[in-house]
Amino acid sequence: MILKATEENIKKAAEVIRKGGLVAFPTETVYGLGADALNKEAVAKIFEVKQRPLIDPVIVHISKFEDLEKLAYPTELAYKLAKAFWPGPLTMVLPKKEVVPSIVTAGLDFVAIRMPAHPVALKLIEESKTFIAAPSANLFSKLSPTRAEHVYEQLGDKVDIILDGGKCDVGVESTIIDLTTEPPTILRLGGLDVEAIEKVIGEVKITKENKKIKAPGMLKKHYSPTTPLKIMKEPKPIPNLRCGLLAFKEPREGFEVVEILSRKGDLREAAANLYDSLHRLDKQNLDIIIAEAVPEVGLGRAIMDRLRKAQGL
Ligand code: TXA
Ligand code: MG
Repeated sequence: MILKATEENIKKAAEVIRKGGLVAFPTETVYGLGADALNKEAVAKIFEVKQRPLIDPVIVHISKFEDLEKLAYPTELAYKLAKAFWPGPLTMVLPKKEVVPSIVTAGLDFVAIRMPAHPVALKLIEESKTFIAAPSANLFSKLSPTRAEHVYEQLGDKVDIILDGGKCDVGVESTIIDLTTEPPTILRLGGLDVEAIEKVIGEVKITKENKKIKAPGMLKKHYSPTTPLKIMKEPKPIPNLRCGLLAFKEPREGFEVVEILSRKGDLREAAANLYDSLHRLDKQNLDIIIAEAVPEVGLGRAIMDRLRKAQGL
């Protein structure tokens, strides 16, 4: 059931969380599928509904800075990053405390924590008087949702309440940084650019594979639409195929459907529109989606990472 994210409905949703149910909610990055992080049966429902393998850990969402120490052992760099970027699109991996059930971390001794910058998410966490474990609210390996309707299309009534807070501003998932390595490692490029992080804590490593999760190559194809997708520097339609175009700045001739990420060529705006445009293209019964490559700087790196995973190569 989709409910508008009014104060009353957020309270209702918080009650669902407290009772061990599932609530999908907006964050500034993408919609999350939330459950009480301290209730392992509730967290198990997330995996079931998403059809997600249990070896893939979930992020715990908090609403107050003090919560960080309740769940993990923060390092000095963690405090620096929290001060600079929370609430916001940054997730930190830290050694976990006993209270975090092992289903949340897929048995790892580390937990991923984030304070989202969305008033509805913050209010929901606060009202539920717990912490909320939440992956993106899509089926495993499919496109992440940036609107309440996207959640409903994939998960339907398997979620108790879907709180509708409109379209997500950032539009790609949070950047994940592992602070248990020296130097810290970026495990996933996302809504906060690496350049900004390096200004605060100095140089970081970027990894293509999340070594903490013992499933090498598992996530080669991820974030993907049902329609095949191909990245091109100079997009051209493929003869005899119904081709859709995901363009960066401007349309091109010969495509059945065209989505433009940012007419101004702004990478932040492009990231915010990425999943939304892919969801629309995916509904057009196309044979293939041609995605134009974007410059790999700032948020362009996160966009190209998602496009490569959608392409599956
Ligand atoms: O923006 C976001 O991060 C969204 C919103 C809802 O907050 N969440 C999200 O969650 O994208 P999810 O589950 O779709 O992706 C989180 C990824 C997992 O696939 C896993 O690779 C990594 O975070 N992760 C979670 N816990 C981890 C841990 N303890 N150690 C290493 N990686 C972890
Ligand atoms: Mg996800």
